[in-house]
Amino acid sequence: MHEVSVGIVGLGNVGMGTLSILAENAGRIEEKLGFRLRVAAVCSRSVGSKTIPAELGPVLKTADWREVVAHPDVDVVAELVGGATVAAEIIEAAIAHKKSVVTANKELMALRGPEIWESAIAAGINLAMEASVAGGIPIHAVLREGISGDRLQTIYGILNGTSNYILTEMEKHGAPLPTVLAEAQRLGYAEADPSADIDGFDARSKLAILAALAFGQKVAPADIYTEGIRRISPMDFQYAHRLGHTIRLVCAARMTSEGLTLSVRPALIQTSTILAGVQGAYNAVWVKGAYGADTFYYGRGAGPHPTGVAVVSDLMRVAREIRSGSPERVSPFAHERLGEFQPRSFLDQKRPFYLRFRVDDRPGIIAALAGILAGKHISLEAVLQEPCDTKHDLPFVITVEPTHERAVRAAVEEMSKLEFLLEPPLAMPMEPSL
Ligand SMILES: NC(=O)c1ccc[n+]([C@@H]2O[C@H](COP(=O)([O-])OP(=O)(O)OC[C@H]3O[C@@H](n4cnc5c(N)ncnc54)[C@H](OP(=O)(O)O)[C@@H]3O)[C@@H](O)[C@H]2O)c1
Repeated sequence: MHEVSVGIVGLGNVGMGTLSILAENAGRIEEKLGFRLRVAAVCSRSVGSKTIPAELGPVLKTADWREVVAHPDVDVVAELVGGATVAAEIIEAAIAHKKSVVTANKELMALRGPEIWESAIAAGINLAMEASVAGGIPIHAVLREGISGDRLQTIYGILNGTSNYILTEMEKHGAPLPTVLAEAQRLGYAEADPSADIDGFDARSKLAILAALAFGQKVAPADIYTEGIRRISPMDFQYAHRLGHTIRLVCAARMTSEGLTLSVRPALIQTSTILAGVQGAYNAVWVKGAYGADTFYYGRGAGPHPTGVAVVSDLMRVAREIRSGSPERVSPFAHERLGEFQPRSFLDQKRPFYLRFRVDDRPGIIAALAGILAGKHISLEAVLQEPCDTKHDLPFVITVEPTHERAVRAAVEEMSKLEFLLEPPLAMPMEPSL
């Protein structure tokens, strides 16, 4: 075999970015591999309207993905369609044809990755999915190989560029979420339906994949406690700054002696920490190991070219493995096999908490709230209040000493019934180790 041929299904942002790298960088790729990586076929529903780079030479163009999967020259199928329906059919058909698969699909791999991997093993083909988490950051390669000798303890990530862009713009300009979101949509950072990004579901899929890679357990997205950023407002940044903190949508996976704790939620993190410096649409992953201690990975989480690099690098790796005749040289999930999820509830974690209130002011408010906290054995740390024009919508913040989240939740539930509150209190953990 003098060359390895690929078929690309999906010619959107990632597919076109991948094709342009394969075309413009073909010489370099061949120098590195020692053989040619040829694009034999491309597919999208509107393939007729796509400009396929001429440098790729003759390429089958089709609107039917089945033709790509069944093409006799195609050794590797790149699934760059997204979603969990057609993409699953494409990958299953590719595996049935004994074609290796490269995918950027976090949603599908988070939902069904271990099962798809089992079919790939049975078929003796390679499965690679670097682009599925943190697009331009080679975090799979790091967890699969770079630090696989360590015993990992904790992963903290900023894994959704859109929500990070919204939070950091809100922090810089003091604009409310709807204004910043509209700007993000205008710039193409946010979808018309922003729910997957701002409600934390996109980040949740990525954390499910990373947790499986880091800890060898089958984690389903639904196993992860998830809270989005809709309730964060510019005033929360004012208070967070007074406390020496900022706010980020933090994806956390912590291995404890009692099990694995997973969460995606907005949290206060100290402004002095490296994660607080992650601005705009960038992503970052901070990994702590028992032996290697801290390592930090930073880069673009999305975009045609950063994600395209991840796809092309996967294609190169799979092509090498096809040439050397060694499928599954290193498992895509970093472990020989994944075990069952051993959860430890995030409610058992002890943290200092930030509680933000909006009230219709009257005497006795602090006493009422402090009474509820005392009833749950929660110690109040500080009360902060920024100047405000109106007494009818008065914000203030209470911070509490490290306490179990279970107790904080019970207190928030009880507080929510108080008639002077304009909305339920907003509770966020203050991450001490970040
Ligand atoms: N965008 C990023 O920066 C990024 C980063 C990391 C990972 N990812 C992942 O990469 C994947 C692709 O994302 P994207 O942003 O490139 O999506 P996209 O721009 O929406 O592109 C999807 C492509 O799939 C094609 N397609 C959809 N249904 C098809 C079908 N039944 N048959 C053939 N082609 C079909 C579409 O074709 P038509 O347009 O012709 O209909 C389009 O070309 C997703 O899994 C996503 O989560 C994306």
